[in-house]
Amino acid sequence: MSRVTLIEPSSHDEFERYYHLRWKILRAPWNQPPGSERDAQDEGSTHVMAVNAARELLGIGRLHFNSISEAQIRYMAVAVDRQRCGVGSLILDQLEQRARRLGAQQVVLDARETAIGFYRKRGYRATGPGHMLFNQIAHVHMCKQLR
Ligand SMILES: CC(C)(COP(=O)(O)OP(=O)(O)OC[C@H]1O[C@@H](n2cnc3c(N)ncnc32)[C@H](O)[C@@H]1OP(=O)(O)O)[C@@H](O)C(=O)NCCC(=O)NCCS
Repeated sequence: MSRVTLIEPSSHDEFERYYHLRWKILRAPWNQPPGSERDAQDEGSTHVMAVNAARELLGIGRLHFNSISEAQIRYMAVAVDRQRCGVGSLILDQLEQRARRLGAQQVVLDARETAIGFYRKRGYRATGPGHMLFNQIAHVHMCKQLR
């Protein structure tokens, strides 16, 4: 994989590209309209995007806090033709580092069933069933203790 840089979107253009990839990977395949990929917690969350040397967007992820000691990761998405090349791991590591630095003791997330294997490899364990999205996408609660 060519050089990957992790940045936090700050300009309008960067945020547009960030949300577009979130929509394209996590919403468009289920016929959800642009805009459906955003939620009220986006403001105030930490957003990370991975780009290559040509500044192409490879992947994204978001971190917010549920309490002083618990952080949550949501909206992990890697461009289809860049999956399984280590990009998701880089983004997850960065978000966990941020969580740790801000005082979190654990990170939780709701994994799509198809992504459970990815999170297991990164040290998360399943803690119970999660919600069903669009009546189709089953989720599992997962948790990782930070040391
Ligand atoms: C899930 C996702 C974020 C993982 O990112 P990625 O860049 O593809 O993952 P990585 O290349 O860093 O993979 C790390 C390890 O997990 C494995 N892995 C990746 N995706 C996996 C999956 N869906 N199921 C099982 N294992 C997976 C990789 O093979 C790799 O294993 P290795 O360390 O033995 O080589 C990405 O594939 C994606 O965007 N998928 C579609 C959207 C999605 O499901 N998002 C998560 C919503 S909860």
